[in-house]
Amino acid sequence: MSLTDLAIRPAPARHDTPFARDVIEGLSAARKRLPSKHFYDRLGSDLFEQICDLPEYYPTRTETALMRDIAPALAEAALPEGSVLVEYGSGASTKTRLLLDAAPRLRAYVPIDISLSALEAASAALRRDYPALRVEPVLADFTAAFELPASARGRPLTGYFPGSTIGNFTPAEAAGFLARARRRLGPGARFILGADLVKSEHTLVAAYDDAAGVTAAFNRNLLGRINRELDGDIDLTAFAHRAVWNRAESRIEMHLASLKPQTVEAAGRRFHFDEGETIHTENCCKFTRESLAQIAAKAGWSVQDLWVSPEPEFAVALLL
Ligand code: AVI
Repeated sequence: MSLTDLAIRPAPARHDTPFARDVIEGLSAARKRLPSKHFYDRLGSDLFEQICDLPEYYPTRTETALMRDIAPALAEAALPEGSVLVEYGSGASTKTRLLLDAAPRLRAYVPIDISLSALEAASAALRRDYPALRVEPVLADFTAAFELPASARGRPLTGYFPGSTIGNFTPAEAAGFLARARRRLGPGARFILGADLVKSEHTLVAAYDDAAGVTAAFNRNLLGRINRELDGDIDLTAFAHRAVWNRAESRIEMHLASLKPQTVEAAGRRFHFDEGETIHTENCCKFTRESLAQIAAKAGWSVQDLWVSPEPEFAVALLL
């Protein structure tokens, strides 16, 4: 073997990564499942951006319009002079600008994200557009432990978690996340939470099964990612995208259903599928005003204020 051979061969896929472990565990389970956090590789993140602009996917534009309306009142109630805004899973920090515009006396903004490229791009753009604001990014998985920058110490802190990403947790995980945020932000903290509300099954299912098939491509990309990163041989056309409303659990469930009996290979293992058997890939919980207040209360917060958009209803809660 020559040096040139070595240089052009792709590196062997690693089967000891968190993604590989989740795939092996999830596809070996009696009810197959994959964690939705693995949707977001580069292609998955691009597809999600496209989802946010789909006519059927109302949450993004509804929350943005609501935030535009309530930003002055929200800033008045949640962002006192000299306070620090801490955003969980900040991405491009797009909706945040509505808050920053309404709170010019904010001391600092701390975006927390697991993607270095997203953090760097968003921080550079914000520093350019808000020169008086300190932008102190934290590269971290916001569901795990992380350190706040020293400049946040002793300041009034306000957490921000928009987008109804809280709905992608189970209710127990959501309460756990909010409880950890409360401990991290400390006594006297405030928290701004975006959450999608229960509505007609028709509207909900359409939002997760759009006519153009973008959400189907987003869901199937999880299989594509297994092929790319874990030496998989999965035929993406042998799986169908399903979005179903589970009324009892108050959630949209996304699944990938096997269209035939088949065995696939991934991460050095083989996994058998019966016809119709599904991989459960995501939960998108939808809240009522009551269930939102209950989850907040379990985590030690109380709902101080709740703003709800005109239909399709989306809520922004201020927790104290
Ligand atoms: C990121 N999260 C809030 C989206 C949602 O609506 O639950 C993810 C998504 N999945 C399919 N479409 C959008």
